[in-house]
Amino acid sequence: MTVLVTGGLGYIGSHTVVELLNSGYEVIVIDNLYNSYPEVEGRIKEITGKDLTFIKCDILDKAALDLVTSKREIDCCIHFAGLKAVGESVQKPLLYYENNITGTINLVNSLTENGCKKIIFSSSATVYGEENDIPYIETMKKGTCSSPYGWTKSMIEQILTDANTADPELSVVLLRYFNPIGAHPSGRIGEDPQGIPNNLMPYISQVAVGRRDHLTIFGNDYKTPDGTCRRDYIHVVDLAEGHVKAVEYAAKNKGTSIFNLGTGTPYSVLEIVNAFEKANGIEVKYEFGARRAGDLPEFWANSDKAKKELGWTAKKNLEDMCRDSWNWQKNNPNGYRED
Ligand code: NAD
Ligand code: UD1
Repeated sequence: MTVLVTGGLGYIGSHTVVELLNSGYEVIVIDNLYNSYPEVEGRIKEITGKDLTFIKCDILDKAALDLVTSKREIDCCIHFAGLKAVGESVQKPLLYYENNITGTINLVNSLTENGCKKIIFSSSATVYGEENDIPYIETMKKGTCSSPYGWTKSMIEQILTDANTADPELSVVLLRYFNPIGAHPSGRIGEDPQGIPNNLMPYISQVAVGRRDHLTIFGNDYKTPDGTCRRDYIHVVDLAEGHVKAVEYAAKNKGTSIFNLGTGTPYSVLEIVNAFEKANGIEVKYEFGARRAGDLPEFWANSDKAKKELGWTAKKNLEDMCRDSWNWQKNNPNGYRED
């Protein structure tokens, strides 16, 4: 069975490709390398001892996509390709709507015109918005997103749902990720943000490795047990395994299905800093700063549906997440750029 993975050289995509290859799938990756590096392909092959096909391709280029989809038998597509920087999306909304939404429409057209009816999409907990109670559960109505990035996720979910209504032969799986952190235990692939990291764990790792002086914790006056925000952090390898389960599910089920992929256990920013220090025996300097616009005090997943219907649960704990994040960072202090 052949799986097309868009954005497959990126952070979550590369870990998913490893798990797909380890599960015996043939994998074709397309990526425009906007936020990833060609070295990732070789490292995936090194980790798995298996081959994959990589084609440099932009999902905004429908003709290039058609060349990929028309020449190969593709059973299922996992669609990661997209822009994901929340702050940048506020500054450049049209770039985000064009890349994420036009790109997805091109992809779905190209897949369905060439006989592939199974699509798994990378959505986000951000679609629950600020109105919903916690923990978030799939039956809740979606809420108001705090950024154009979030709206692209919410809109793409709707586009795929509508496409499925028009064509009942489609299988659409919408995976809502919570906060992926960690890296492959080999330390060969991991998260490598360009510039100053926006997300917590890459920032902590870069402080630990000496690339940044200290972490600023955005707010310690929230109504949470220690005053800092709480999130549902999930190991990226667990998340990757969730995609393999989703591929199996899509092979057996038509229609549109939504799954939260989280652990169900929230940790505060301070708890993450302390766990990182303890797991790795290394100090992380931090200061408290102002709240960041758009941050919610706390949210986490109810992932019972994924357990029941996908047969998936997160297995790795916070110590694993902290250890593997650091293992990646210390072995690749400048990410992929030193190859
Ligand atoms: P990433 O940036 O590491 O991976 C995305 C990949 O898509 C990159 O390799 C990039 O080069 C590629 N890409 C972007 N635009 C493209 C285009 N037009 N054509 C072809 N390739 C393109 O990000 P990630 O963290 O691995 O996230 C993967 C997906 O999961 C994204 O859609 C993201 O929005 C979603 N997501 C991520 C998180 C998170 O915390 N990392 C949370 C929720 C959802
Ligand atoms: C963010 C996005 C979310 C997106 C997700 C994955 C916002 C408001 N939300 O989630 O839409 O789906 O990333 O890309 O941007 N923190 C610090 N100091 C830092 C960095 C983060 O204190 O330098 C705190 C944040 O305030 C937050 C927690 O750490 O409480 C986690 O932050 P982050 O990793 O950016 O994830 P989210 O904000 O949950």
